[in-house]
Amino acid sequence: MRNRYLDKSYELWEKGKSLFLGGTQLYSKAPYAHIEGIYPAYIERGKNAHVWDVDGNEYVDWEMALGPIVLGWGYERVDQAVIDQLKKGMTFSQMSPIEIEYGELLRKHVPSVYKMRFLKTGSGATEAAIRIARAYTGRKTIIRGEYHGWHDWTASGEKARQGGILPEIRPFIKKFEYNELDKVEGYFKEFPDQIAAVITEPVILEPPKDDFLNRLKTLCHENGALLIFDEVVSGFRFAIGGAQTTFNVTPDLTTFGKGMANGMPLSAVVGIQEIMDRVDPSVFISTTFGGEALSLAAAIALIKEMEEQPVHQKIWDLGNHMIHGFNDRAKRIGLGMRAKGYAPRVSFEFDDAVILRKAWLYKSIFMQECAKRGVLLGWCLFPCYTHTQEDADFTLQVFEEAMMVVKRAVESGHPEKFLEGKSTTAILG
Ligand SMILES: Cc1ncc(COP(=O)(O)O)c(C=O)c1O
Repeated sequence: MRNRYLDKSYELWEKGKSLFLGGTQLYSKAPYAHIEGIYPAYIERGKNAHVWDVDGNEYVDWEMALGPIVLGWGYERVDQAVIDQLKKGMTFSQMSPIEIEYGELLRKHVPSVYKMRFLKTGSGATEAAIRIARAYTGRKTIIRGEYHGWHDWTASGEKARQGGILPEIRPFIKKFEYNELDKVEGYFKEFPDQIAAVITEPVILEPPKDDFLNRLKTLCHENGALLIFDEVVSGFRFAIGGAQTTFNVTPDLTTFGKGMANGMPLSAVVGIQEIMDRVDPSVFISTTFGGEALSLAAAIALIKEMEEQPVHQKIWDLGNHMIHGFNDRAKRIGLGMRAKGYAPRVSFEFDDAVILRKAWLYKSIFMQECAKRGVLLGWCLFPCYTHTQEDADFTLQVFEEAMMVVKRAVESGHPEKFLEGKSTTAILG
């Protein structure tokens, strides 16, 4: 175990708490979303799949900026494209030709694209998709799945942090869990001719059960509603055309974000011709930095790299290697813990009743032991193109050691004593 200092990280965190709402720009990045006191709070730089914190400690990272980094940090082709564009200019009073170049690339690769609009955040993209769906159907109610961002329509469906959201909009938001087709059917029966759209990620961790995605699409269309895939996480990570190509289901509208530009801020709402042409004259979606050229240059470089190199093959192979490697070790050690999900987005679950009773604590002990040994993860792994076999081997060895600590904590009867930092907690966004 290495001797780590995190002094500078936590000095900055004290300042951050006094400067920013929630101390941060994204709750999920803050120490309270990791293991406070054990995880680094601020990262100075990254290269490939490694990051260095502000105290100079090096880590193999699997959290990948909460999703955006698909190729790795400091990826030559993307960085060069950004530098070349920077020399020409970032944004102008008229449009940039690079908007056309990228738009045509998206239309080539993503089945659900006829027209589109570029935005800056995943939340902006899902907000735009909801506006389009309501304009197209003339209806108000939205059935939503998991997390879709911070704007009123979706945040009003959460329990925490409801300040400033009009309670009047809450009746228009209904929630369901992935694979809960019966629940969606129930909403369509209960609110006939009122539902504008169902929005869901096409994939999270569970496989779609009983042809869930196709049946969801049919259900929407039979009831005059649109199906929106929120591919803010899955887009460009599962496949160049999004998870809609992996599962071969084309939605009416799609949102992309995190994975579009290897860390540069870009998102998009895209849709099929009939819908986009019809709503075009009536919807207002407009933003100053939508055509910002550095991000578009990065996005083009990312797609070209994906066209020419085996980016997704490597991500899938590596992710599967991590799932199997994790599960083999857990089994050998006799720990009720399992890696689950699809290779591009892997998570963990406990299947031991004793552990489940204190799941947050054990999750925190596991993450703590990984961070101490030089591996950073959220409660999930995002394999990227430049994670190496050496990174994978090192990480699996760290996982094994972390599993043994968790096992000792379970057997001790006093697992709290094994936690050196503060436990991670449930976070929205
Ligand atoms: C599925 C999904 N949609 C939308 C968003 C919102 O994206 P952003 O944080 O860029 O606004 C997120 C963010 O985590 C997400 O995971």
